[in-house]
Amino acid sequence: MSGDSEEAPPEVHHYNDRSEVPWDIQNYWAQRYKLFSKYDEGIWLTDDAWFGVTPEPVAKFVVLPVECGFGIAFAYNLHSKIAEHIAKSAPKGRSILVDAFAGAGGNTIAFALSGRWKRVYAIEKDPAVLQCAKHNAKVYGVENKITWFEGDCFEIIKNQLKDLAPYSVLFGSPPWGGPGYRSDEVFNLRTMEPYSLRKLYDEYSAFTEHMVLYLPRTSDLRQLAKVVKDDRKATVMHYCMEGASKALCIYYGDFNME
Ligand SMILES: C[S@@+](CC[C@H](N)C(=O)[O-])C[C@H]1O[C@@H](n2cnc3c(N)ncnc32)[C@H](O)[C@@H]1O
Repeated sequence: MSGDSEEAPPEVHHYNDRSEVPWDIQNYWAQRYKLFSKYDEGIWLTDDAWFGVTPEPVAKFVVLPVECGFGIAFAYNLHSKIAEHIAKSAPKGRSILVDAFAGAGGNTIAFALSGRWKRVYAIEKDPAVLQCAKHNAKVYGVENKITWFEGDCFEIIKNQLKDLAPYSVLFGSPPWGGPGYRSDEVFNLRTMEPYSLRKLYDEYSAFTEHMVLYLPRTSDLRQLAKVVKDDRKATVMHYCMEGASKALCIYYGDFNME
């Protein structure tokens, strides 16, 4: 694995050739450079983690003016585009980024690369996936900018990160399980598994008013609006690749989305 002396856990792979790749991952593997531009430098993923990685960004994009809390961004690499948006729009006094569902590190690495944050705190409950994230951060040379936590994000945020609350922005890219993610025209965020939007919003808003959630592009907008109290701001940003929306981010709190 890229001449790296580090030992990979048995469930971790770096596929060099399509013939090695399990069939259900082949479509994701075909997009490996959009997920990780440095894929060939020895990026690690578990087979499950392929399904959850947010595609990485590009320099070429257009951001339409956001009106009524709604925007569209075109990106080649979503990780960097999202990281750039959050870096630019977050209130100045917020200098810490907490990535609650780090996965294999796609978003975490982009946050660290943005240079906007004094520190990035990344949480992942699956030990093998966390090992991938740490390894991948090394490939990108940003491992020293990130503090890693293995465990449940809700517990860690409540118990270990609470002193950082006044300085933090929280980013969450949760699993999108539950009925109808692929089939339903409108994705029901109440039945999203294992964590509903309500659960995520309530837990995280007890920590910080400034949070960004990465959710299916078909997420129910009324449900997204309904969890917020009337005086709070919410902005939906669609992230598009090759002309089509891939996902959306809901920005809850005082982000300056110009
Ligand atoms: C959609 S993936 C995140 C992908 C990541 N943003 C990336 O680009 O690589 C969701 C991750 O959340 C992790 N996870 C699920 N529940 C968790 C919890 N309660 N605390 C921390 N991590 C959790 C899963 O193991 C999975 O790796």
